[in-house]
Amino acid sequence: MFALGLCFLFTVIHVQGECSGSCNEPTLFYENLNCKPVFASPDDCCPSHYNCSLIEERANSDAEICYFRGKTYNPGESINDDEIYGNCKVGCTCRKKEPGNMGFTCAVLDCPEWLHQRKPGCYFKYELDKCCNVGEVCEPSNVTCKVDGKTYHVGQEFDPSNIKCTKCICQNEFAGKYEAPFCKKRSCIEEVSYQKEIKNFCAPSYISKDDCCPFSWICPEDKDTIVAAKIQAKTPDLKCKFGQHHLGIGDAFNRTSDNGKGKLSCECIIPPYLTCIQNYDYPTYAPEY
Ligand SMILES: *[C@@H]1O[C@H](CO)[C@@H](O)[C@H](O)[C@H]1NC(C)=O
Ligand SMILES: *[C@@H]1O[C@H](CO)[C@@H](O)[C@H](O)[C@H]1NC(C)=O
Ligand SMILES: *[C@@H]1O[C@H](CO)[C@@H](O)[C@H](O)[C@H]1NC(C)=O
Repeated sequence: MFALGLCFLFTVIHVQGECSGSCNEPTLFYENLNCKPVFASPDDCCPSHYNCSLIEERANSDAEICYFRGKTYNPGESINDDEIYGNCKVGCTCRKKEPGNMGFTCAVLDCPEWLHQRKPGCYFKYELDKCCNVGEVCEPSNVTCKVDGKTYHVGQEFDPSNIKCTKCICQNEFAGKYEAPFCKKRSCIEEVSYQKEIKNFCAPSYISKDDCCPFSWICPEDKDTIVAAKIQAKTPDLKCKFGQHHLGIGDAFNRTSDNGKGKLSCECIIPPYLTCIQNYDYPTYAPEY
């Protein structure tokens, strides 16, 4: 009875299109791929699908170029470090990895704080567009930021709970507004490592639906058994692409790893890419470059 009531509640909310903020599906990577959201109704939280026509065009082209954030790179050209250092990548250069497959190779980045503990009573200070710390603070500052019941010192990072995928750094004069220069929307740099998977319409895979960026990418396997949605989709013409497969909204498949511990489930929710959820035991797909 309770489950039925809950189901009814969700249906009502959905029908009324009352959107209490942002879309609950992980869609940030679509925006970072410059796909354009298409809304069935202006009240909807989530787009019905994205227009990724630029990626379709690339998929049909043999041009030996790399793509990042709408810009093209010839082999040997590098992404400006300022654009990716916040995501902990540097020295990413476009290369031909194998015939027909272009991609970036990056330098290895090691932050000192990944190897060394901080001094007792001290904390590391961060900046929004930097990966590694910009110094260690040992004298307590009397400026703090109070967010979601927690207190942060100047230079400490936090993710406000009510605004998705936003990273903030506590700084002087922070007044509770999650905007520049204190905060910045996170970004996914999938094109740096998964150029081939994006072009081949593999699927982004997350550990949790609340994650901002994919944990891994999943490509089709011969043994995948795609199960059609139980309820017929309201928009039968909307299809997800998964390699050569075309899936309607709600069509799904599951995989279990050979040892039985790894679980993966993929579904067509917001085309054209599938949305996969996996656990940490599911073997990470290694790009076979
Ligand atoms: C998708 O967007 C492109 C421009 O970015 C536009 O030319 C095209 O008509 C759009 N496709 C659909 C189906 O709306
Ligand atoms: C910190 O507190 C001291 C003493 O209360 C005050 O003199 C100083 O201006 C404060 N510093 C800042 C940055 O607010
Ligand atoms: C995938 O597994 C989940 C949980 O075990 C199950 O509820 C769902 O029906 C399965 N989906 C498919 C397509 O097999």
